[in-house]
Amino acid sequence: MTLQTTAPPFIQLHHEDRAALRAELVAGLQATPAHISPKFLYDALGSRLFDAITELPEYYPTRTEAAIFQQHGADMAQVVPGGSILLDLGAGSCVKAARLFPVLRPAAYVAIDISVDYLRDTLQQLQQQHPALAMLGVGMDFSSRFALGAEVADWLADGPAAQAPRVVFYPGSSIGNFDPVEALALLRQAHAVCRSGGAGGGLLIGVDRVKPRAVLEPAYDDALGVTGAFNRNLLLNVNRVLGADFAPAAWRHVGLFNEEASRIEMHLEASAQQTVCWPGGQRVFAAGERLHTESSYKWQPDHFEALLRNAGFGEARHWSDAQGWFSVFWAPA
Ligand code: AVI
Repeated sequence: MTLQTTAPPFIQLHHEDRAALRAELVAGLQATPAHISPKFLYDALGSRLFDAITELPEYYPTRTEAAIFQQHGADMAQVVPGGSILLDLGAGSCVKAARLFPVLRPAAYVAIDISVDYLRDTLQQLQQQHPALAMLGVGMDFSSRFALGAEVADWLADGPAAQAPRVVFYPGSSIGNFDPVEALALLRQAHAVCRSGGAGGGLLIGVDRVKPRAVLEPAYDDALGVTGAFNRNLLLNVNRVLGADFAPAAWRHVGLFNEEASRIEMHLEASAQQTVCWPGGQRVFAAGERLHTESSYKWQPDHFEALLRNAGFGEARHWSDAQGWFSVFWAPA
């Protein structure tokens, strides 16, 4: 057993392209209806507000998923191979994966997030708590393309778990923030990553399920207004990135369930007519006009199983809470 006494290595594959971000924002602001990608929700304050959302009484996904892992972790370990390389997509604070280390007993842990700066402190602390576990931090925008790339592949090939199965871990129902076509593309890429290691790899993924509107809508429009602040904060981020002059107080948060599309939609609604300006452009928003900021798809288990099959995975199984609100799927590659 090699004890890791130094800080884990980091590989930064993502480099922010400000010009491309601005062009994307302008295109969305000029579209009808106007839209802004949900990735602009997550600046430093937005990430903190999201953490606060996960503590709200109305926001059931985080605690429901945690309870499923707690209750069924040992059962999961019967099918998820031990001694694997655990690839944690959108690792953030790494807490969800770290809770599973005792049951899944991975040989190596690869924490993937858009910025390694966010991972650096957490991964260093985690390495001290788990000195026998090889760890790597990877800065990657897997939402545009998920592939390990040569540097990560080299690290894996040189490490103690070169031939180990690869388990992609994607909790939190973040897959819901992709539309079904994008979700399929990401799952196909995840399937290729799982297949690139030893036999037995697969995907362990948290998925939020369709449920009554009376449960769904308060989860995205809470009584304290934290989700509204999270949504409006996106405008402050857009002001910073684009040099726009959005006045957040002039926009009302809307969180509604679109049953036909099986998704929660978050919008910002102009409370009065207003003109928003940015360098080189402007748009007049009428009173009541909406800006679409996020979709969060809710899945029926059989539809999600079909999506996994379509992405190339074998027969999946899943574990749920007693109310059937959330499922954790294991899909062998
Ligand atoms: C990150 N993602 C899974 C959250 C969700 O539930 O779609 C983002 C969120 N948006 C509003 N509340 C939470």
